[in-house]
Amino acid sequence: MCGIIGYVGPDQAVPVLLEGLRKLEYRGYDSAGLAVVNGKGVEVAKEAGSVSLLEAAVGSAPPSGSLGIAHTRWATHGEPTRLNAHPHLSCDGRIALVHNGIIENAAALKERLLAEGHAFQSSTDTEVLAHLIEEHYAGDLEVAVRAALTRVEGTYGLAVVHCAEPDRIVAARMGSPLLIGVGIGAQYLASDAAAVVGHTRRVVYLEDGELAVITRDGYRTTDLQNTHVNKTIAEISWDVKEIQKGGYQHFMLKEIHEQPESLRNALRGRLVRGEGTARLGGLNLTSKELAAVDRIVITACGTSWHAALVGEYMLEECTGLPVEVEYASEFRYRNPVVDAHTLVIGISQSGETADTQMAMREAKRKGAKVLGIINVVGSTIAREADGGIYLHAGPEIGVASTKAFTSQILTLALFTLFLGRRRLLSAERGRTIAMAMDELPEQVAQILAKEEEVREMARLYFEATNALYLGRGYNFPVALEGALKLKEISYIHAEGYPAAEMKHGPIALIDENMPVVVLAIRDGVYKKVLSNIQEVKARRGRIIAIANDVDGEIRNLADHIFTVPQTLDMLTPVLTAVPLQLLAYHIAVLRGCDVDRPRNLAKSVTIE
Ligand code: G6P
Repeated sequence: MCGIIGYVGPDQAVPVLLEGLRKLEYRGYDSAGLAVVNGKGVEVAKEAGSVSLLEAAVGSAPPSGSLGIAHTRWATHGEPTRLNAHPHLSCDGRIALVHNGIIENAAALKERLLAEGHAFQSSTDTEVLAHLIEEHYAGDLEVAVRAALTRVEGTYGLAVVHCAEPDRIVAARMGSPLLIGVGIGAQYLASDAAAVVGHTRRVVYLEDGELAVITRDGYRTTDLQNTHVNKTIAEISWDVKEIQKGGYQHFMLKEIHEQPESLRNALRGRLVRGEGTARLGGLNLTSKELAAVDRIVITACGTSWHAALVGEYMLEECTGLPVEVEYASEFRYRNPVVDAHTLVIGISQSGETADTQMAMREAKRKGAKVLGIINVVGSTIAREADGGIYLHAGPEIGVASTKAFTSQILTLALFTLFLGRRRLLSAERGRTIAMAMDELPEQVAQILAKEEEVREMARLYFEATNALYLGRGYNFPVALEGALKLKEISYIHAEGYPAAEMKHGPIALIDENMPVVVLAIRDGVYKKVLSNIQEVKARRGRIIAIANDVDGEIRNLADHIFTVPQTLDMLTPVLTAVPLQLLAYHIAVLRGCDVDRPRNLAKSVTIE
């Protein structure tokens, strides 16, 4: 979703800004623009489409100046056109700003500003801010921004410049992430650490209601009432190499192949093999608080929601506690039954998904303890939660989530082990689970070594227009995730279903043109799944089975079989998800789709 980069320092701003925008491309966007402040005023360039089009537009004579702001836009209000791209300007063209988020009272503000003679160029909510700041400007940009923001309802991550103040960027945050990259003699501003990590690893995360003035030599942070706020500098632990493709054609493929390593990182230092439990240092829950938990609610969006469903099955099986999984966007707007005995777990790769953040705030307000299972260290949700578990999967750039999904499941398994051992699980059972978890990275590596088999299947099915994914038990959420992966990046309509539920509707769609991917693992529901495959076969559907072996009944039923190693039922999703990720990837590549930047999707959805 929208991205911001700002720079003030000794060098020309445009190359730094363009490079930053390229690092933000993965978030998903549809237009891009930049503004540079120099002796002549504010020079702006913007384009609909990609950052390379913007680069071509500024050409060999880009605006000169060593202070600037830039933006990738993901359209919410107004089409993705050049006029609607950021930066937006005040009437006099002296103020330029870029904005992530949504101004909810934009229509009312615009009506008033129009009546007072302001002229608008775009149909965005953001442009209202430029005019509002202009209205309050009397020689001090910081004062004007602060005054304007008191009139604003909604969310923002904001960077503003004024041509009469060519040494500073004013930034403010409310509900949309923003950080300062702290350099020596140069400072950066970004919505995402990926845009600055090539320059500095030292960052300051702004919190909601904070405003920063950034100059070449440093930064000053205050709240909206102009009270000084002390900030600590955090160190980014990952390296710029981790956000490069490393020889792979796409980030998604690289990240699929990183899974043995990302799974090892999730386990590192956490599995207590001898005692069959897990050591989780960041939960911040006392034994008394843990013992008081009588119910768990897991809330998330998208792929993280699918991981949550696996977590529900695991936690109920191993802790005996009732567990519910809620779409964060639903949870936050109803009146959920949550109290001090409810443990609420929010799962989010980015740690910035607005709905998940708000659902967790709502739970906290009602007195629940709130944990986050998050990948991005220092992200908003990670900071707001009472405690949590980091995935340590490294940056995930591909818009379609892959390695985060398997790490989320493994992390949920660690938490299950931890809580289960305090409740139902014997030490022996705990040790069995721990041993099986330990084997997963190597088992995933074995699956990845057979990528060519998946590519072959992709060649047979890439022209399909529909696909059905079926699974039961622990593999029902994997069926949902497999279907989501396919539709996200190949634009083939796909549905995931509990295998037995198929006969209550989707069975009507099955004919010889319908590929049906079935998760047919030798687990507790294997025989039942075989019966469901019979039902598909009887209607001439084409079966792609993900199975543990090619023997027995499955051989006669399936058109194609891809085998995965055997593990405990609760851990099978970590293995079965991998061939489905590869299948979606290769089908999308064969269809000529932009795998890392699928149309209309955003990596991190920071609006509701
Ligand atoms: C977007 C992404 C998905 C992701 C979802 C939740 O829709 O495209 O890949 O699963 O957001 O994101 P989160 O960062 O909260 O896990």
